[in-house]
Amino acid sequence: MSDVVVRQCPGGPLLVRGAETVLDDDGNVHEVTRPVVAVCACGKSSRKPWCDSTHKSIPSTR
Ligand code: FES
Repeated sequence: MSDVVVRQCPGGPLLVRGAETVLDDDGNVHEVTRPVVAVCACGKSSRKPWCDSTHKSIPSTR
């Protein structure tokens, strides 16, 4: 098992490196098939748990 590194992109997704699976809000397990995946942190993606760039259309509150 490798180390997992998570980096938060300001106003955007969580970039997850080295994960084998991601668990969503409903407890479903999603297999990770790439070295780095973008996980939605805004809650608006239509492809949860993955980021679909919808966050770019959300006004920033920061
Ligand atoms: S963070 Fe990109 S769609 Fe939610």
